[in-house]
Amino acid sequence: MQLVFLGAPGVGKGTQADKVSVQYGVVKISTGDLLREAVRNRTTLGLEAKSYMDQGKLVPDLVVIGLVRDKLADPGYAEGFILDGFPRTVPQAEALAGVLDERRVRLDRVINFQVPRTEIVKRLSGRRSCPKCQATYHVEFAPSKKGILCDRCDEALVQRSDDQPEAIETRLKVYEEQTAPLINYYAAKNMLSHLDSAGSVDSVYDNLTKVLADRKSTRLNSSHIPLSRMPSSA
Ligand code: AP5
Repeated sequence: MQLVFLGAPGVGKGTQADKVSVQYGVVKISTGDLLREAVRNRTTLGLEAKSYMDQGKLVPDLVVIGLVRDKLADPGYAEGFILDGFPRTVPQAEALAGVLDERRVRLDRVINFQVPRTEIVKRLSGRRSCPKCQATYHVEFAPSKKGILCDRCDEALVQRSDDQPEAIETRLKVYEEQTAPLINYYAAKNMLSHLDSAGSVDSVYDNLTKVLADRKSTRLNSSHIPLSRMPSSA
């Protein structure tokens, strides 16, 4: 199973990718996670990426394409993968197609997660993560049982620097300008399924498994609506 999870920041791509990864035994490749790891390890790539990430801007295409190319070269990914947050620009999508062609691998489906903008802001501003094991929580929707400490490793939870209001605004703008065009790009290739991702984590997962069970379907539940025109969930 080879999947791409597409969608605005905070729609729940990472949360669902983790569940699918465990349930279906495929590996999650999150460019956001890879970049944050490089930042934590203070590698040259991490130092270059940090300023873009803190501001909510995209890291240059060549950097992320190189990261994904290296990951996909690993034989461990032969059984399948979920690309979470990649591609995010048309040049990245074209580079991915080239890499997969070289490896004679076919992309099964691109899932376009859709959530109203007000809900996205709520999800991002309430997100907390563990700096040690990288577990993700939400202060309201998925709180840690130990309050401000990680359930798994007791580390104090932190808020991502790009989950501050100004960076959230930039990320949503960057999404509309640079990533949303991928919806038409993949729709034209008949590879896209839209997924209404506004419900609870479990209900979104139920819908997602239905899409995955019917990989021939090109749409589910709803058609794409730009963030700016989606109704408020409040
Ligand atoms: P990245 O880490 O990929 O961030 P993102 O796409 O902005 O996605 P998020 O992780 O913010 O959201 P998500 O959709 O995964 O939601 P999540 O499941 O966490 O990228 C960070 C930065 O790295 C980018 O800004 C850029 O600088 C750089 N970068 C990464 N990839 C790049 C690329 N390809 N090219 C260039 N630059 C790149 O959920 C969010 C919160 O909501 C959590 O608290 C969660 O608990 C909660 N939640 C999830 N689902 C639900 C639900 N159904 N109901 C209620 N709450 C929910």
